[in-house]
Amino acid sequence: MRFGLAAKLTLFMGGAMALVAVTMALTVSLYMQKSLEREHHLRCLSSAAHLVRHIRAPLITNDLYSLYEYFQDTVQQDLFYSVMLLDGSGKVLMHNDLLEIGKIHEDPFSRHALQTEKPLFSDIFWTEDGLLVDDVFVPIVVADIRLGTLRLGHSHAEIEKTVGDSRKQIVLVGIAAILASLLLANFLASVIARPIRSLTDATKRVALGDLNLSVDVRKGDELGILARSFNAMTRELRRTTVSHDSLQNIFNSASDAIRTINLENDIVMSNRAMTDLLNGQGKCIQGKCYQLIHAPICDTADCVLKRIAGGEKYVQLETAIELHDGRKKVVRLTATPLLENDRIAGVIESIQDITDQKAAEKESQNLQNQLVQAQKMESVGRLAGGVAHDFNNILSVIIGYSELGLATVPKGDPLSEKLRIIEDAAQKAAALVRQLLAFSRKQVLEMTVLNVNEVVTNMMKMLGRVIGEDIRLELSSLRATRKIIGDHSQLVQVLMNLAVNARDAMPNGGRLIIETADVDLDEDYARLYSYVQPGPYVLLSVTDTGIGMSREVMKNIFEPFFTTKGPEAGTGLGLSTVYGTVKQHGGHIHVYSEPDRGTTFKIYLPATDKEKGERAATKALRGRQGSETILVVEDEHVLRQLLADILRPMGYKIHLAANGREALELFNTIQGPLDVLLTDVMMPEMDGRELARRIMDMHPATKVIFMSGYAQSIIMQNDSTLEQCYFIPKPITPSVLDAKLRQVLGESTAS
Ligand SMILES: Nc1ncnc2c1ncn2[C@@H]1O[C@H](COP(=O)(O)OP(=O)(O)OP(=O)(O)O)[C@@H](O)[C@H]1O
Ligand SMILES: [Mg+2]
Repeated sequence: MRFGLAAKLTLFMGGAMALVAVTMALTVSLYMQKSLEREHHLRCLSSAAHLVRHIRAPLITNDLYSLYEYFQDTVQQDLFYSVMLLDGSGKVLMHNDLLEIGKIHEDPFSRHALQTEKPLFSDIFWTEDGLLVDDVFVPIVVADIRLGTLRLGHSHAEIEKTVGDSRKQIVLVGIAAILASLLLANFLASVIARPIRSLTDATKRVALGDLNLSVDVRKGDELGILARSFNAMTRELRRTTVSHDSLQNIFNSASDAIRTINLENDIVMSNRAMTDLLNGQGKCIQGKCYQLIHAPICDTADCVLKRIAGGEKYVQLETAIELHDGRKKVVRLTATPLLENDRIAGVIESIQDITDQKAAEKESQNLQNQLVQAQKMESVGRLAGGVAHDFNNILSVIIGYSELGLATVPKGDPLSEKLRIIEDAAQKAAALVRQLLAFSRKQVLEMTVLNVNEVVTNMMKMLGRVIGEDIRLELSSLRATRKIIGDHSQLVQVLMNLAVNARDAMPNGGRLIIETADVDLDEDYARLYSYVQPGPYVLLSVTDTGIGMSREVMKNIFEPFFTTKGPEAGTGLGLSTVYGTVKQHGGHIHVYSEPDRGTTFKIYLPATDKEKGERAATKALRGRQGSETILVVEDEHVLRQLLADILRPMGYKIHLAANGREALELFNTIQGPLDVLLTDVMMPEMDGRELARRIMDMHPATKVIFMSGYAQSIIMQNDSTLEQCYFIPKPITPSVLDAKLRQVLGESTAS
């Protein structure tokens, strides 16, 4: 049980007062008893002295009768209940009760008293008759001779009664005093406790947030001072609470999420933006949920709290957090010390949600990378294309003259074998150049409407041979229904290159899975990959379960001459040609690879709604000896010479010009119609296309054949005036030129 202050004060003060009252009562009763006894003793002694004076004479004369008389008188006076005279041995010489005479009193006190010269009182004792008494021994001395000792039995009853009565009164007075003390104490306690109680009540209300109160100040004592201090405190609290509220408002209006954390990891304060950022996890915010933001770094050297406690003045870091609903966010966290009296008491943290910013940065970095990659591929492609163009001219000369030489050297001549070796080597070089041209997207394509599934299934046998028996070829998911426009042989080449790479990646066997599907690439996808046009596509994917690639390798695989296979094993042109071919088809290629797991190449080719058509038949009109007039325009001297050397023996009438201007001048001097203009495209001064337009203007019947290492589509560039022109790819060989001329002139003859 708990007592209030008033009860305690009452008990304490009442107890103290009662103790004083009881002590006083006891003291008074003791004092009374003592003084009564003293008074009785004095009375006893004076009565005894009186008696001694009267009995001295009868004692000397041994007048026993008188003695007896005196004794009787004395007993009747009520003060003494017995009177006796003892001799030195304690023997009773005379007694008011004659039957007692002759008895001997030998108790120690009597013996002591019989020897003592002063009157002595015995202790109080009970007589056999049930009386409370104390006896007085008085010596009787006459002329220094002790005649005997008078023993007077003195009843104590009267004293006891008087003392008992006065004790009863004292007890009554004591009880009254205790009650009065308690009442007084209670009154005093309530007087003292009342202001304290009202202060306590006021404190409780302040604790509950009621700051608009003050307590009465009526006194100048300590309680008054306390009340005044209390009122001053609430006034100050009111003032600081207003600024606390405005601080909280400012705190809440900050767009950054801010909070303070003490050194025990408790979040002490946090603003509204923090609640919003943490998705309204209010409960958590005011509790020990510091882990939420800090879980990933709490146990590392990055722990903000540890760093600030360790003396750092400013910490900024970016970290990922996961909210309770599973969403992930990237935040930038800035922390500074929270100081109290110049000592670090915790951390002030400001947290910015940079998830969107990071995503945008990533996207822009991605696009930037794509752009850089595309520009790199573009410039490497231009370089490769330029080299290939020049090589084509050189190879045309080598192959052309080897072929011409072979045609003129008789069979069995040792020179013919050498010429064949030269031609073979040149053909290999031409194949490489073709690959480079494919990469630089300048190869000659023969586009038709194709069903990719058919292209793949037709290659089954060939692919099986390429990959060998240890690798299983899986073609079960050819789901594409759409068609594409493409060059059949180039697509075959693409698949072969991918299959060969897959085989090389699976030296211990594995699976090669080729799949097709219709896919629609939407705007979102196009935004992700800047070079993609949204629309319907056919996806051709080639997956192997081989060694896969590291990121570093993956970055470079489409570059010409990049290989990890060593000089003998690979040229590094396989994927470059695949890349170029796919790009030239208006498609794009992605690679996904994981070391030791495998690789998937995904090729997206634009779908067409055109129906499948047959390739324009190229009729080979062999055995026709020419007689027509051909104007050959080629800026490369050796090549011009080669063309003349090829065409003249065939019977054509040849005119040679080194450029467009020269060709026009020559055209005006030619006798008779010009049947064929055989011209290079890229020439200084006037290029082949301009020359062709002018000549066709003057003489529409002239057939134009362009010669170029670049693709036909690039040369023609959708120019309708050039639609009926022909095209022959470089490097030019006599047989191909022959066939082309036969086609062109044969058609014209036929028409
Ligand atoms: N399926 C694949 N698995 C693992 N790595 C591959 C795969 N395809 C290509 N690569 C890597 O890409 C590199 C370039 O391939 P690319 O086909 O261009 O050249 P290559 O195969 O080395 O030589 P080649 O000119 O004979 O094709 C390879 O050397 C290889 O490191
Ligand atoms: Mg390869």
